[in-house]
Amino acid sequence: MSFVRPHGRATLQGWASGLTRGFFITFEGGEGAGKSTQIRLLAEALAAEGSEVVVTREPGGSPGAEAVRHVLLSGAAEPLGPTMEAILFAAARSDHVEQVIRPALGRGAVVLCDRFFDSSRVYQGVTGELDSNFMAALERVTINGAMPDLTIILDIDPQEGLRRAVARRGEESADRFEKETVDMHRRRREAFLDIARREPERCVVIDASLPPEEIAAQVLEIARRAMNSRREKDAKHV
Ligand SMILES: Nc1ncnc2c1ncn2[C@@H]1O[C@H](COP(=O)(O)OP(=O)(O)OP(=O)(O)O)[C@@H](O)[C@H]1O
Ligand SMILES: [Mg+2]
Repeated sequence: MSFVRPHGRATLQGWASGLTRGFFITFEGGEGAGKSTQIRLLAEALAAEGSEVVVTREPGGSPGAEAVRHVLLSGAAEPLGPTMEAILFAAARSDHVEQVIRPALGRGAVVLCDRFFDSSRVYQGVTGELDSNFMAALERVTINGAMPDLTIILDIDPQEGLRRAVARRGEESADRFEKETVDMHRRRREAFLDIARREPERCVVIDASLPPEEIAAQVLEIARRAMNSRREKDAKHV
């Protein structure tokens, strides 16, 4: 987790100015899609405009949740089965929401989060084949109203994503999720696209095979538009 606080102001500045509370953007997509890269570029662009930007990630993002992240990504929770794994993800998310995300939004910051509940829906719900009612209940309790204003789904052919992830990692060993089969990653890609089709108000899909700068320009434009539309809605309700 890192904080970019160019001026330490409590109100939103730059493109985010005029919003009555913070703005919450999540980035989703498969391994190596470019989530971390795009979050860094958007954070820089928004901070340059004077917004307070909080960059965070899942699983993790708060001290309690980072401890759970280690258990999850090392594979130590795998023998406990997918239900227990989903509960651990939910516990980490709940801590992250209450300790980091909600306070930041309350201060008026723009929060950029690397993976959020859509990853749980896809990884545990779809490819973990958990009961959808159980997953929906877990999600509701965990986020407790902290719904993303915008979700950017970076869409990539899993083979290309995994190639990038392996190239970046070098000699380090793959984590628990990178090790799974390409077929599994393809099902996840479809599941992310399915979420975008069901929730077009919140989700935007971007072709992540493009060069990073082209994607960054699209992300900035989409974020700007989403903030403008929230600002207009807020103005009507004042
Ligand atoms: N649009 C792009 N085109 C080519 N390479 C890219 C692009 N975006 C990112 N990369 C490179 O691919 C690798 C993975 O990118 P990044 O870490 O941003 O992806 P990620 O979605 O965060 O991956 P992970 O799910 O493993 O965290 C990095 O080496 C990065 O420099
Ligand atoms: Mg990443």
